[in-house]
Amino acid sequence: MNMSTFARRRAAVLEKMRAQGGGVAIIPTAPEVMRNADADYPYRHDSYFYYLSGFPEPEATLVLIAGERDQSILFCREKNEEREIWDGYRYGPAGAKEQFGFDAAFSIGNIDSELPMLMANAPALFYALGSSARLDAQVQGWLNAVRAQVRAGVTAPSAAYDVRTILNEMRLVKDDEELAIMRRAADIAADAHARAMRCARPGLREYHLEAELLHEFRRNGSQFPAYGSIVATGANACVLHYRAGDAELRDGDLVLIDAGCELDSYASDITRTFPVSGRFSGPQKTLYEIVLAAQQAAIEATGPGRRFTDGHDAALAVLAQGMLDTGLLDRDKAGTLDDVIANGSYRQFYMHRTGHWLGMDVHDVGDYRDPAVSATEKPWRTLVPGMVLTIEPGIYVRPAPGVPEDFWNIGIRIEDDAVVTAGGCEIITRNAPKTVAEIEAVMRG
Ligand code: GLY
Ligand code: MN
Ligand code: MN
Repeated sequence: MNMSTFARRRAAVLEKMRAQGGGVAIIPTAPEVMRNADADYPYRHDSYFYYLSGFPEPEATLVLIAGERDQSILFCREKNEEREIWDGYRYGPAGAKEQFGFDAAFSIGNIDSELPMLMANAPALFYALGSSARLDAQVQGWLNAVRAQVRAGVTAPSAAYDVRTILNEMRLVKDDEELAIMRRAADIAADAHARAMRCARPGLREYHLEAELLHEFRRNGSQFPAYGSIVATGANACVLHYRAGDAELRDGDLVLIDAGCELDSYASDITRTFPVSGRFSGPQKTLYEIVLAAQQAAIEATGPGRRFTDGHDAALAVLAQGMLDTGLLDRDKAGTLDDVIANGSYRQFYMHRTGHWLGMDVHDVGDYRDPAVSATEKPWRTLVPGMVLTIEPGIYVRPAPGVPEDFWNIGIRIEDDAVVTAGGCEIITRNAPKTVAEIEAVMRG
């Protein structure tokens, strides 16, 4: 990503802060987290911090000042020859200022003395209110340090705003650089799903397919999976948050894989469901075609000017009709399509929503309701070009009295990532095989 992009984003935040009367924004990156003993979790920066800085190191905080003039200030670790021998390169304040284009940079060790000076006489603070006990405590300490100077004529900020309100709106609409990365993250994940399909056969275990996914992610430069990969065979597919385990793939069962990679801080999120043997059985195919048709209906309802929920409503109508047609729902008890939707009886087989925003976080930030409307019950968000969302209908059939046994334990989800465009939407995960014919062809080799 171009350094000028981060600078442009900082300028945009400063302008929005100024529109609210100006002040000081404080945006720390994520802490390092230990896993056990001396082993830490792989480090992942905070998405807000990185969105505005591009700075990859832990122990860093960005401060933006909309005051007499705009300033972007980074607090980061000092250079340290000893630690750099053990842990690797550190930019240090001088290097960070130079390389990342901040107006100033200081040692993170000096933040408690510097910040009260930067906050003095500022009308307001902008930070992620209540997001972390540590940050709340730090802000309290800095505020009290400013208040201690009142007799010297200094005033302390008297208002606090959640800086995420500004940042969430910005992050919701992706620019061309972000979309280019997201297309590549989608391509890598699509290839990983195709690879898992080609490798699947009876006798393997779920973790074997997970290994194929990870192999494809990493060999293409993805830094991490975007979330814990779901590889669920047989009845496990009906457990929505199942993770890849050690269940054996059995002839006649399906495998549901929900996996995406993170590339350069951006997530992809794909689900495919396919038969272990390479051929769908009759009942599997019947339900699969319903989910696929539901997804197609949702894709057609996704475009500029449409509401966020139009895709869900379109998918739901197809799914619920399918439940009635197949006898999953008993017409005599469940009633008409409108009844099923109104009374929620479809939730026995479809209990999640059809999509979410996608970006730096897999469940990305951004209000789902329109914040510009000042009604108590704000309408769902209207889609505009550059928004990215998943489209992921499914059907999950747990054994239950009255449910046709042919469908028991079948769990199917089909998930793609869509960029809203001027004319509709672009499915950036389209390279992952999806129709029955495509999947069966790929699995035949
Ligand atoms: N993998 C998380 C989701 O599909 O929302
Ligand atoms: Mn998803
Ligand atoms: Mn997913």
